Amino acid sequence: MQLRDDAKTYGAISIVNHWVLAIGIIGLLISGLVIAELLSGPARAPWVWWHKAFGFVAIFWIIWMEAAHRLQKVRPQPDPNYTAFELTARKISHHFLVIGTLALAISGSFMSVFRGREIDVFGWFAVPPVGEIPWIADSANFVHTWGGYLLIAAVLAHAGAALKHHFVSRDNTLARMLGRRQHA
Ligand code: HEM
Ligand code: HEM
Repeated sequence: MQLRDDAKTYGAISIVNHWVLAIGIIGLLISGLVIAELLSGPARAPWVWWHKAFGFVAIFWIIWMEAAHRLQKVRPQPDPNYTAFELTARKISHHFLVIGTLALAISGSFMSVFRGREIDVFGWFAVPPVGEIPWIADSANFVHTWGGYLLIAAVLAHAGAALKHHFVSRDNTLARMLGRRQHA
């Protein structure tokens, strides 16, 4: 398989970037909901620790993914049979997924450091607390909660669109993100 993208299909770098991000973000959305809605007391601690570490690393994953996109001169173009609505929805939803992920990772980090808590990143290093500034921590919490629900809706719509293209339109949208050869 080719490493780089071309005008018709994704290369290995973009495919690995996408699926690592996808699994990571789905894990963060589920663990976030588990922490906020299901757990209380000491049972929260290990979930919060992993959630914070992976969530913080997501900032760098998004930067790396965007850099990898921008360094490639040619990007895969959508299937020629896309309607005008699908072309616009594709553009808006991809931007929303990237900006939403960044907003969640940054708001989560602000919640911690402005509530006087450090972020221990897998024991490799720790982001120190800034101090207790409640209005920043509370605003970040608001963004994190509602941004989390919006991102869940966006991911469901995005995955739903991928399945629609695969099973209803029967085009290459999903196949090329799975590294399958183009048949046309
Ligand atoms: C099971 C879940 C998922 C499926 C089936 C899926 C499928 C796809 C497919 C088929 C594409 C290519 C679309 C095209 O070429 O027009 C794509 C692109 C993309 N996906 Fe996903 N995805 C999933 C989860 C996620 C998640 C959780 C995120 C992050 C929040 C994400 C972020 C993106 C982004 C940013 C792109 C655009 C990549 C680019 O511009 O090259 N995806 N996804
Ligand atoms: C892309 C990265 C991230 C995603 C997708 C994500 C997602 C979520 C979601 C969906 C929730 C549940 C919100 C609710 O129902 O109230 C949540 C809660 C939480 N997140 Fe994140 N998060 C991310 C990054 C972070 C980071 C970097 C931190 C801290 C360093 C963090 C700390 C927390 C904490 C402490 C909660 C529990 C909040 C509460 O109990 O109200 N998250 N997260």
